[in-house]
Amino acid sequence: MQIIGMLRHVAMACGAGQRPLCSRWTSGLPVRFLGTSSPQSPADASFHSASFSGADRPQVLITGGLGQLGVGLANLLRKRFGKDNVILSDIRKPPDHVFYSGPFLYADVLDYKRLREIVVNNRITWLFHYSALLSAAGEANVPLARAVNVTGLHNVLDVAAEYHLRLFVPSTIGAFGPTSPRNPAPDLCTQRPRTIYGVSKVYTELMGEYYYHRYGLDFRCLRYPGIISADSQPGGGTTDYAVQIFPDAIRSGKFECNLKASARLPMMYVQDCLRATLEVMDAPAESLSMRTYNINAMSFSPEELAQEVLKHLPEFQISYNVDPVLQAIADSWPMTLDDSSARKDWGWKHDFDLPELVTTMLNFHGSDTRVAQAN
Ligand code: SER
Repeated sequence: MQIIGMLRHVAMACGAGQRPLCSRWTSGLPVRFLGTSSPQSPADASFHSASFSGADRPQVLITGGLGQLGVGLANLLRKRFGKDNVILSDIRKPPDHVFYSGPFLYADVLDYKRLREIVVNNRITWLFHYSALLSAAGEANVPLARAVNVTGLHNVLDVAAEYHLRLFVPSTIGAFGPTSPRNPAPDLCTQRPRTIYGVSKVYTELMGEYYYHRYGLDFRCLRYPGIISADSQPGGGTTDYAVQIFPDAIRSGKFECNLKASARLPMMYVQDCLRATLEVMDAPAESLSMRTYNINAMSFSPEELAQEVLKHLPEFQISYNVDPVLQAIADSWPMTLDDSSARKDWGWKHDFDLPELVTTMLNFHGSDTRVAQAN
């Protein structure tokens, strides 16, 4: 009862419940697909890539644009496709530097009609769906995670299928679980995650692939490692420590870590992550042997990261105050991902290893002088 009540509250707050259930859905299928009853084969889906060549530049919408990755992705895409062709959206109010750097719209992924309006009015052709609650945030509010990560996905899949969009939705190392191979986790293996975040992302992978086979939706998905960014903060992830350690090291010379010293996880610098995202969206459909790919760059534990920071800041001190919920999540995730298919199919290659990552992050947070001295 309590959960249903909370969910209803969240759904109302987020503007859900506006889907015209009776008119739009028959036998559980979107109406527009009933007329074209035969399922498209995977080869049929390639027409989407053919239609985006030459001067016909993508018109891009990014949902959840004020999270860790949206603004960086918008910057990258605007350089490529032009400022006005990339719309950032969120339900939060943008800071000045975001608002004045290009188009920004209010968009709640639980409001299906509004999503359709935005896609139609702006002639959107590519959609990057970044709205989601991460692992720790999801465990703290399962009804909200279920609403945003699952109901929001349904809306986005339907809009993308209806308007023939190319759709990117990130998945994660969190889509693996304690019974998955850990070192490395291959693209295809047992996936029985124990977080609502992980469960919703396995569902995302499966639903995206289902819509691809069933409706020819041009769905593309990467399993992101923990992403380390300098000028944007993650919110509620298990790998967040690897972002926070850098400003803390610079400001106070100390960091209290909420994972064990030995908790080894796959990680990636944001620049590599965003480039991979654009590369997989750019890849010719015929080069993709799968719709969901692992991508990998480096793996480290808090202890190994601290050792690397110490090379630059010899007085740096790390201490441990382990959060059992986060540690249990970390223990259920792989230590590294096998990304050989991404490397083979569309030429994925990371640039940043641990030493470059640490130098870049410390420099960003203002330690130029001290890093230069340490070298
Ligand atoms: N960074 C995410 C998390 O920790 C993993 O995808 O939840």
